[in-house]
Amino acid sequence: MRTVYVNGDYLPEDQAKVSVFDRGFLFADAVYEVTSVLDGKIIAFDGHVERLARSLAELGMDMPMSPEALLDIHRELVARNAIDEGLIYLQVSRGAADRDFAYPAADTPQTVVLFTQAKAGLADAPMAKTGMKVISIPDRRWGRRDIKTVQLLYPSMGKMLAKDAGVHDAWMVEDGAVTEGTSNNAYIVKDGTIITRHLGEEILHGITRKAVLAYAAEAQMKVEERAFTLAEAQAADEAFITSASTFVMPVVEIDGVPVGSGEPGPVAARLREIYLDESRKAAV
Ligand code: PDD
Repeated sequence: MRTVYVNGDYLPEDQAKVSVFDRGFLFADAVYEVTSVLDGKIIAFDGHVERLARSLAELGMDMPMSPEALLDIHRELVARNAIDEGLIYLQVSRGAADRDFAYPAADTPQTVVLFTQAKAGLADAPMAKTGMKVISIPDRRWGRRDIKTVQLLYPSMGKMLAKDAGVHDAWMVEDGAVTEGTSNNAYIVKDGTIITRHLGEEILHGITRKAVLAYAAEAQMKVEERAFTLAEAQAADEAFITSASTFVMPVVEIDGVPVGSGEPGPVAARLREIYLDESRKAAV
């Protein structure tokens, strides 16, 4: 049985409880992070903590503890659950209070939960060799997608629409341009240039995105941060996604149209390799 962290305690998962009045449960008034683990070490920890602090600040919440204390909990959970490859989920909610739309008093204790998910073979995922297929769906999420809230019903619906269509994921489209995947950032490659949507309130500022774009620049690859259309994506040489749980993953089909050769392309393969190598080296 897994050991999970709840508000200062390490507990067997069946004894870990939060209040029915928790604002995360009642209002999705909570933010989260998902961080990967490779070789028993934590990938891109600083980036995830920085984004957590930013998400909390945007919602008028403080960090529940120092980055060092958060790292200790991540490491403790990795050790207690013997995670070699997998994910660590972290959620901070505004805490439990009688149901009221207005925020409770600022001194209401936050709810802090962390748990691990073992994912053997995460780095060696077979899909990296075969690529994934996506459909497009309208982006019907709220307007502050740069805040990593637990308000994930529409992405869940998107994942189910993809499943029903016999594909792996959905790319969301707004005002004629692709925003991102249901739980990942979206990219295309055309004539050697990597194109991915610019940062703004319309997408989550991916930690993997930031690292991958930096590695691409270091490797002298051309990068354009701008909106792109679905038609542009279907006519691209390559497409791929990034996230903490997939790293860099090729996309080979969009709405039934093969991208490029219909096989994973060299740019995605190279970026995946660089990302995994560099992340393992920098892991804590
Ligand atoms: N999702 N865009 C969205 C909407 C996301 O939910 C995610 C991450 C990303 C990629 O961000 P990062 O590179 O920091 O993981 C982009 C996580 C993995 C999840 O919800 O499980």
